[in-house]
Amino acid sequence: MKERLKHIEEEFKKDLGNVQLVQDFEDIKIKYLGRKSLLSQLFAKIPDLAKEEKGIWGKKLNLFKNKITSLLEERIKESTILGKEKNFDVTFPSADLKKGSRHILSKVSEQICYIFEKLGFSVVEGNEIEDEWHNFAALNIPLEHPSRDVFDTFYLDIPKGVGGKFLLRSHTSPSQIRIMQKVKPPLAVISPGRVYRPDQADATHSFMFYQIEGFAVSEEINFSHLKGILLHFARELFSDDVKLRFRPHFFPFTEPSAEVDVSCIICDGKSKSDTGKKCSVCKGKGWLEILGCGMIHPNVLVSCGIDQKRYKGFAFGMGVDRIAMLKYGIDDIRLFYENDIRFLEQFPI
Ligand code: PHE
Repeated sequence: MKERLKHIEEEFKKDLGNVQLVQDFEDIKIKYLGRKSLLSQLFAKIPDLAKEEKGIWGKKLNLFKNKITSLLEERIKESTILGKEKNFDVTFPSADLKKGSRHILSKVSEQICYIFEKLGFSVVEGNEIEDEWHNFAALNIPLEHPSRDVFDTFYLDIPKGVGGKFLLRSHTSPSQIRIMQKVKPPLAVISPGRVYRPDQADATHSFMFYQIEGFAVSEEINFSHLKGILLHFARELFSDDVKLRFRPHFFPFTEPSAEVDVSCIICDGKSKSDTGKKCSVCKGKGWLEILGCGMIHPNVLVSCGIDQKRYKGFAFGMGVDRIAMLKYGIDDIRLFYENDIRFLEQFPI
């Protein structure tokens, strides 16, 4: 009796150690605790024992039964926690898991940067807090320019620095200055980030929004490179058949300068919807303005210590919010910043 019990215990431990599948637990249960189990066979022997032995063995066998039952339960629990069994059902539905996602503006900004990265541009972020010199003077923006007005720029209420008053940058163009001061040409950089303007919030204005600045400087750069790169960009971002229109414009930091329109991505430049109504996105114009650009003004190169006779450059700047609105048919910029989950959830991943 004693030996058989010892033998059963050893075999039980071995079997328990070899468990691979959930089914193995079932088999062990049947083998050791079932009605025809080895243990039941021992219990069946008790009536044949001497009177004083009966009680002792009854107790022993019961203790043993309890012990293996708890060992087995422990192992089952442990393997469920660790998901150890090989036939752990990975398809079993879990509790409802709420997944977060990247904000649509981050995604569009990354998407735009990636188009330029593939062309060899490096991504470099600038500073959100700038000074007057980097935000204006170095960009050839004269002292009397209206954009320097307190109604157009957030000045910080802190002591001035060597670059004049500190402010929240009103565009990403000071990134050009920061980078050109540090890095020798040739260079091609794309610089995304937040910008700030004290505008009254409405469907198309926000006091904080996103821009992307791009620029390249080398000995051999001309306006046709700029046009080629921007056309490639628009085709990658919108669709293969979009057209671009360059309208002459003025920016203090580029000369010549242009504003660039893309043929309306909704009505395909036809100005009308399929039902013959005026296209609501381009308002019947057939074109959508997407960015400003030009050849970097020689004064800007000089501000950065770059030989303006030897080097030329192009620069462009675009609003990420505006592009995201056009691309996804969003009609109110405020939706980006209200963090309404019903809006954000429409742009998963
Ligand atoms: N900084 C300009 C703006 O905020 C955009 C721009 C950048 C235009 C670079 C030309 C060249 O409107």
